[in-house]
Amino acid sequence: MCDKGSMAQYTRVSGFVGLITLQNPPVNALSAAVRQGIVDMVERALSDPIVKSVVICGQNGNFCGGADIKEFGTNMSGPPLVPMIDAIEAANKPVVAAIEGSALGGGLELALGCHYRIAHSKARLGLPEVTLGLLPAAGGTQRLPRLVGVPAALNLITTGRHVTAAQALQLGIVDQVTDHNAVDVAVTFSLSVAGQSLDARRISTYLCPLPSDFDALFEGVMQKVRQSARGAIAPVACVQAVRAAATLPYTKGMEREQELMATLFTSGQARAQQYCFFAQRAVGRWRMPSGARWETSKPRPVHKAAVIGLGTMGRGITVALAQTGLSVVAVETQEKQLMEAKQAVSGMLERGAKRHGVVPTLDRISYSQNIQAIAEVDLVIEAVFEDMALKTEVFQQLSAVCKPGTLLCTNTSALDVDKLASETPNPELVVGMHFFAPAHVMKLLEVVYGPRSSPQAVATAMQLGKKMGKVSVAVGNCRGFVGNRMLMPYLQQAFFLLEEGATPELVDQALEEFGFPMGVFRMSDLSGLDIGWRVRKRDELVEPDMASGKSARIRQGSRYSPLGDLLCEQGRFGQKTGRGWYQYDKPGSRVARSDPWLHSFLVEYRARHGLVPRSIDHQEVLERCLYALINEGFRILEDGIAAGPEDIDVIYVFGYGWPRHRGGPMFYAGMVGLAKVLERLEHYQQAHPDVPYLQPCSLLRRLVAGGSPPIHRWREVIKKHQSQL
Ligand code: NAI
Repeated sequence: MCDKGSMAQYTRVSGFVGLITLQNPPVNALSAAVRQGIVDMVERALSDPIVKSVVICGQNGNFCGGADIKEFGTNMSGPPLVPMIDAIEAANKPVVAAIEGSALGGGLELALGCHYRIAHSKARLGLPEVTLGLLPAAGGTQRLPRLVGVPAALNLITTGRHVTAAQALQLGIVDQVTDHNAVDVAVTFSLSVAGQSLDARRISTYLCPLPSDFDALFEGVMQKVRQSARGAIAPVACVQAVRAAATLPYTKGMEREQELMATLFTSGQARAQQYCFFAQRAVGRWRMPSGARWETSKPRPVHKAAVIGLGTMGRGITVALAQTGLSVVAVETQEKQLMEAKQAVSGMLERGAKRHGVVPTLDRISYSQNIQAIAEVDLVIEAVFEDMALKTEVFQQLSAVCKPGTLLCTNTSALDVDKLASETPNPELVVGMHFFAPAHVMKLLEVVYGPRSSPQAVATAMQLGKKMGKVSVAVGNCRGFVGNRMLMPYLQQAFFLLEEGATPELVDQALEEFGFPMGVFRMSDLSGLDIGWRVRKRDELVEPDMASGKSARIRQGSRYSPLGDLLCEQGRFGQKTGRGWYQYDKPGSRVARSDPWLHSFLVEYRARHGLVPRSIDHQEVLERCLYALINEGFRILEDGIAAGPEDIDVIYVFGYGWPRHRGGPMFYAGMVGLAKVLERLEHYQQAHPDVPYLQPCSLLRRLVAGGSPPIHRWREVIKKHQSQL
């Protein structure tokens, strides 16, 4: 017996078992058609006198990935999830969920409505709704705490983290884990329990196990969640919903769950987080201005890779490569550095393996002081000092040593990738792979292509990034690429605000309340003030003998703040020296404390330069720092350095701590209103005519003139704009 057409298939197996198979590739999401199918098939199984038990599974070894996000924001049709799951739970025949692959979100909620859950050992389970700005609103917040207790439920629901089948068994989420075919096991099992009472199997009827220190627990969790949420409302709502499960009867708790969900669903934050979800996927569909694109560019296989230079970055990159299963040749010329790197890399690999319960991959790495050792590799990532002459020399050596066709990648953070490519005999083999520190942890990778990079080189770097678990974004070559280029106006505004009367504390607090994990000055102390100083020196912006007065703050025709340089001259490089924009207990310590010296220094600096301090509020800090950064984002789009606003937003969310619930800078600009961003930029530009970064970008003007279209329509405007430039 078989019903085709709907997105759930019904078969009778083993004579007496109704098997319902969800069919909606790739993850069997609960679309309207799937829900309708489940409702119909359950009804059919329950009304068929021959059927003694029911098993629900998903096709292609995957139970169910949850709600169909594409349906969000549309007029939802089809049967709603809650009554569907309630009806399954109320059934008078045992319903068993056979969980293979993943049971996530609505998928797990469906499983929790079943009377039994049997998982394959490789299955993963979780309620990730919070990462989309939502909560599990098909009874997840009410059933899970009743099943596994409040602390475990809070942990899973507020973080959205996935658990393995073994962990799920330990928590009590599933009843059995099997290495065999979970559907077969579930079918046999369902027959073995057919006819038994189901009274003790309906989770909604359970009393939520309450810890004795109930109030203290919720208070503590709420405090922690608020702190780590950095302004995101979904995790807080999740705690409130679980609290309802603990204190209210099921039906009342469900009402609370729905109420909280309704608030989240219509919030801008949920829209922002869902946008991020899709943007993260969209960046994989890269395209280059030449017309080359992801579908038509085949990556080269990479079995063996090399890393040149084992400093901060090279070590992390080596770890990231080894963890993907590649053989790695790691080259470092300094013997002492090589020894230290070996130890550091092994340590990182061992710790990572321990965390994941696997064996470390130390034997995949060979170390050498000699560049000749890389002759057989398929791809090289260079991470030597940020020095063009040195990198040029290294690239020439690489071209001579490597077998033909080896891809040559540079991890430069700011040097010209095209220029480097032009110094090699095969510029088409050169791309930038810009990692972020620490390279084995940070999710972002900018893949930088030049006009001569071959589509295959880009495709290979993008695919390697993916294998390393990175979110890879293909971007064009320019000073600072996308991320660091946009950071320049942001940093500059922060310095100017100090000159005008703000303190590092005030600026940081405004940015941290906005949702950044760290304000600009705490961040600068962490990464080291000397890095920017070196770049500014190279750019001849730093004048050794600084005169006072206005002219001292004009360099190369624009307003310039020498504040960072002055701190560096005092040896204040940030955390590493124990002093920077803040003070620290000792060099290397991480807890920033206000520094009275810095405050007097600012007072004295302003007086020396005839600057009259004024009161600056959070609003101005946010507008000046963020709108200047966003304005540069529009320039990047206009220049074609990023293919679309999603690329920029993903870079900022994954690499620069931009709060996900605000969607990324370009999405945020749309939320604020492009006309408002433009108006504020014009306002600040009038007040600071000597700051080119505040000059509104013509693409922004054009978008506003065109009625501020929604972000998914910007690409059309950009294309038209570029063709007219
Ligand atoms: P680092 O100073 O920690 O390490 C550079 C290493 O390269 C040193 O161990 C040095 O001995 C070695 N080296 C120099 N010449 C060599 C040669 N010819 N062959 C083999 N090894 C050689 O520098 P870091 O911070 O790791 O930076 C490396 C590159 O990564 C730079 O281009 C930098 O701009 C870029 N980058 C740095 C980031 C950071 O946060 N530190 C972030 C992203 C990119």
